[in-house]
Parts: sequence; structure tokens; C-alpha cells
Amino acid sequence: MGNVVVVGSQWGDEGKGKIVDWLSERADVVVRFQGGHNAGHTLVVDGKVYKLSLMPSGVVRGGKISVIGNGVVVDPWALLSEMDKLRDQGVDITSETLQIAANATLIMPYHRELDALREDATKGVKIGTTRRGIGPAYEDKVGRRAIRVCDLQSRETIEARLEVALTHHNAVRRGLGQPEVDGKVIADELMTLAPQILPYMHNVWRTLDDAQKSGKKILFEGAQGSLLDIDHGTYPFVTSSNTVAGQAAGGSGMGPRALDYVLGITKAYTTRVGSGPFPSEQDNEVGQYLGEKGHEFGTVTGRSRRCGWFDAVLVRQSLTIGGVDGIALTKLDVLDGMDELKVCVGYKHKGEVIDYLPYGMEDQAAIEPVYETLEGWQESTFGARSWADLPATAVKYIRRIEELIGVPVALLSTSPERDDTILVRDPFQD
Ligand code: IMP
Repeated sequence: MGNVVVVGSQWGDEGKGKIVDWLSERADVVVRFQGGHNAGHTLVVDGKVYKLSLMPSGVVRGGKISVIGNGVVVDPWALLSEMDKLRDQGVDITSETLQIAANATLIMPYHRELDALREDATKGVKIGTTRRGIGPAYEDKVGRRAIRVCDLQSRETIEARLEVALTHHNAVRRGLGQPEVDGKVIADELMTLAPQILPYMHNVWRTLDDAQKSGKKILFEGAQGSLLDIDHGTYPFVTSSNTVAGQAAGGSGMGPRALDYVLGITKAYTTRVGSGPFPSEQDNEVGQYLGEKGHEFGTVTGRSRRCGWFDAVLVRQSLTIGGVDGIALTKLDVLDGMDELKVCVGYKHKGEVIDYLPYGMEDQAAIEPVYETLEGWQESTFGARSWADLPATAVKYIRRIEELIGVPVALLSTSPERDDTILVRDPFQD
């Protein structure tokens, strides 16, 4: 039995929640390794609906360890509120079952404000962020002025760290015509919430090493998608963390050899929330149809998602960079009833056809998708539980996708229901 990393292979919202839940039932430890409460998914367990944002999916199931790794940015106010809501629903959260890395970065109120100020500014690039302060918090981490979970242990440290952070932030705020932040007020607030957070602080690298040595199964739960990766995504229209599978190691304190199998969650068409390039976008009745049928509205911000055809070029690129072993193909049923389906198989760029997305913003804006047209199907694939339940044209669509992306389908999800899943290869099995 090995460990499994789950990542999104597009721009997020690929339907990771259901698959992660399905896998987390069989894992002993579930680890978040990047992002923060910009992620959001809904779990339905035994008829009860749980909304998770920062918490690893394992938290709603008893007997598992949920780990928030060092690669995550933690808003302590959001964390406590999510914990309260889960407790109100009867979820048992203890200092053993929830472990937060001592070296994880904290999101401060001034990060959230800066995120919103930039999004609302008339000048500059509008990313369309979730306004949760994710980007500014990661900036402080890399700028070595972040406040981390371990700093909550002493008022002296909090004040010293705040002085460093606020020297920077108050200068920025003055430039933006905003009032300065009073470090004392934040220090008081942090001292009030520290006793509620510190019991969960752990050296999670040791927890994970112990789990690995005792043969426990570890699930690494990625948030967002590989095309939103800070390095490999459609920069600057990306999130501020590495979302590719390799980050599961660095963002948790495990060696890369502990990552045995990488599952890329892949939607049968494409969606994107926020700004940025989207070559196969269908800003027309096709996109509208996909959006309505696929209920494509953001779980965190409620924004409607942009929709388009499956882009095999982008998915192949992100699966290659992420070292993905198999994909979980989701939301195939949304394509039911369409006469024909298009798949992007290349881009026209400066008079030639290329098989990758170039990095430059101007190049990205200049490319034109090249489509292959496939026959659609009128039958319903909703809730199918075996290949035999699928129309031949749907199987043909799946096989063509596998061929184009060079990675096999390990799981096929045919409805939001847990059991409506066709298993080809168990990711936890060697
Ligand atoms: P941020 O992560 O809030 O900084 O937002 C940066 C970009 O990532 C924006 O385009 C967001 O819409 C996108 N994004 C962040 N989190 C998610 C997610 O969980 N699903 C889909 N898109 C996301």
C-alpha cells in the first residue's frame, strides 16, 4: 500500500471533493499541503452535509489524523470558525486528530485587506482572487516577514514579528491611502486566540514520518489546480502557491519518495473562475449549457465559472509537469445530450501548430485552439457504475482523451454520489 497525492489538473473545481472523500475513507492520515481557505468543498457523509475550506477532508471521519502542513497559509480566525461549525455538526476535533504544522504561515487581517484593495484598484492586473488574503500572506512568507503558528507561543515574539511585517505593510498602506495598522491591536487579538490554536500545533514532519514507518496510508489533498500553480500555471492569473503534486513533499515535510501515486482530477470539459487565458473557452450557448448543466458556480465566492471544451494540450502539459499516474475523470454526464463534442488538440501560433501553452502573456493571447470533433451521445451516463453502462460513443470520447493526454483513466465519476464511480485502478494499491 502506498501514499496517494490528489491534485487538480485544470484550473480547480474539477470535482476533487468527492474523490478525496472517497479516498480519505481508506486513508489513515489526510494532509493539506498548500493553499488555504480559498479552497472549498462540500462533503456528504451519511446524509450530513459538511462544508470544508481549510480542513483536510479526513476531519469529518473518526479515527483519522488530519494534517495542515507547512505549505498551507492559515487564517486563524477562519480556522476557528470552521472548527466551531464542524463541532456544532458533531465532528470531534482533538489535538491528536487535527495537527497543524508549527511552521505554517498565518494569514493576518491586513493580508485580506490588501488582497481586496488590489482587486478593487483601477490600475494593475485584476486576478479575480478569492479575496481571502492568500497572495499577500505567501508574499510575506517568501519575504521572510510572516508570522507563523509557532510564533503564537510568546507575546514578545508576536510583537517582534509584527514590527517587521508592519514596517512593510504600513508603508504599502500609506501608499494606498489607507490607515496604518496598529500592531498592538493585532498582538492582543493573536494572544486571545493563541490558546485555541496552540494545542493543535505539531512537528507534522515527525507525525508523517511515524505514519509512513508504521505502514499507514497517507492521502495528500491538493487544492486548486495545476494550471493555477504559481510557477507552471497561467501566470500572473494564478494562485500564490505551488499546486502541482511535487509540493505535497515540500508543503508537508515528507521526502518525495513517499509520494507513491499521483491522481489528477480532470473534468470532462474545462472551467475557470477569475481572469486569465482560457483557449478553449466557449463564451456562447455551449459555455452556457455546460455552466447550467454542470452547476458551475464557485463554492467559495459564488461567482459563475467560465466554461469551455476539454483542452487536451493543457491537461497533457499539467499532467506531465505534475508526474500524474492516472486521472479521475469527472462530470462526464454534463456532456450527455450534445450532438458533437470538441476537444482542443493543438494551438495555432505564429503560423504553425504547437502542442504546448507558451508562457508569455502575449503569446498566450495570440494562440488559437485547433479542435478535433467527436460524436456526442444522447443516452444518459449519469450514475453509471460500469463500463457496460456507458454508450459506445462516450467510451470512445474517454479513450480519445486518454490517448491525447497520455495518462490512463483510473477512476470515472458519473455523479456526485460516492458510489457512482467506476474504478479501473485503485490509487492506494501498488
Ligand atoms: P487566490 O488563490 O484567492 O489568490 O486567487 C487566485 C486565482 O485562483 C483566482 O483566479 C481564483 O479564482 C483562483 N482560485 C483560488 N482558489 C480556487 C479554487 O479552490 N478553485 C478554483 N479557483 C481558485
